Amino acid sequence: MKILVTGGAGFIGANFLNRFVPRHPEHTFVNVDALTYAANLRSLEAIADRPNYGFERLDLVEAEAVRAAVERHRPDAVVHFAAESHVDRSISGPRPFLRTNIEGTFNLLEACRAVWPAGAGIFHHVSTDEVYGSLGPEGKFREDTRYDPSSPYSASKAASDHLVRAWGRTFGMTVKLTNCSNNYGPLQFPEKLIPLMILNLLERKPLPVYGKGENVRDWLFVDDHCAAIWTVLHHGAPGETYNVGGNSEQRNIDVVKLLCQVVAEETGASAEELGRLITYVKDRPGHDLRYAIDAGRLERELGWRPEETFASGIRKTVKWYLANPGWVSDVRSGEYRRWIDSHYGGGLGGGLGGAPGGGAI
Ligand code: NAD
Ligand code: DAU
Repeated sequence: MKILVTGGAGFIGANFLNRFVPRHPEHTFVNVDALTYAANLRSLEAIADRPNYGFERLDLVEAEAVRAAVERHRPDAVVHFAAESHVDRSISGPRPFLRTNIEGTFNLLEACRAVWPAGAGIFHHVSTDEVYGSLGPEGKFREDTRYDPSSPYSASKAASDHLVRAWGRTFGMTVKLTNCSNNYGPLQFPEKLIPLMILNLLERKPLPVYGKGENVRDWLFVDDHCAAIWTVLHHGAPGETYNVGGNSEQRNIDVVKLLCQVVAEETGASAEELGRLITYVKDRPGHDLRYAIDAGRLERELGWRPEETFASGIRKTVKWYLANPGWVSDVRSGEYRRWIDSHYGGGLGGGLGGAPGGGAI
């Protein structure tokens, strides 16, 4: 198969490519990414020179460029990760979320429709549990839970889910959707809770906990999410949706306290001293109280199960950030952007890629 991966220079996309490009030399992977602030080509160094991998800078908002890229590559499958993904940014500036997540998805669907006869090709849309809104203290999100998004981010992802399903029903496109809970692990940009707390702990900076820290998230190690996507891509039923989750509900304050403990153990610092960095700050507007996923369908029908527990995944994650000070300092200093700008120019829609992002295929 030729698999077009969008957003492969971001957190989950890079983990997906690093895992499957070496394991599947029989498949070709083309990574298209606009290289926004969230992208880091350093995350892909290990696979950049593989013959079955290529990179191309592409902004999904540019309809004609998207059409041309899909026409040129004629993929057998698309795995669509590319999105504006951070809830806080969607509150301070929603427009890029509507443009990329809605219009970008629309452009990609239309480009695929132009090259795929009905039923040919697979469009796998990577989505979020946030489309379901907030749970109270009981219950879990199922695939038939009513959509009720709270933030501009989740509203834009809900819209993109609806577009993907509509292209399946109306135009006969083979679409598959996965709605996943909070991911964590290596290569995550330190705006999200877990990497932000790890790096702040290492630099002895305050640990900002929103509100009372009582909001609950259902955490999934990123490798388990990537394995779920691969399973659904290859074995999921056309037109169907699968919820993905780690069965690992945690209050935010407990996550932060656990991180203090694990960073202390891994670095020889005092957990008590690190705990004093916890700082309660103003709550996020529209902050969903609780997310929890019922991933029973994916387990029963396709045999997927998460391998990592929260304790083992958090330990691996802390160890990864400690073992990769080069990646961390590039992200902290902005060096990773300077590299991209010097190779691709500051604006979007630059030319074809070269090392270390990978050669054009
Ligand atoms: P990320 O922010 O780390 O990466 C997003 C990538 O998309 C970046 O490389 C960025 O450059 C690219 N991108 C953004 N706008 C683009 C555009 N207009 N054209 C082309 N590329 C563009 O995101 P992530 O955390 O890796 O999430 C990937 C996907 O998974 C998203 O669709 C997100 O909604 C979904 N998701 C994420 C989580 C999570 O916890 N991170 C959980 C469930 C679902
Ligand atoms: O549920 C899946 C979603 O998980 C994905 O769709 C999103 O792309 C991803 O960003 C994530 O959204 P969250 O808003 O849940 O993740 P974030 O890491 O921003 O926040 C996790 C929780 O921690 C949330 O309740 C807000 C809180 N928080 C976050 C930050 C950054 C804090 O208390 N302090 C912080 O500094």
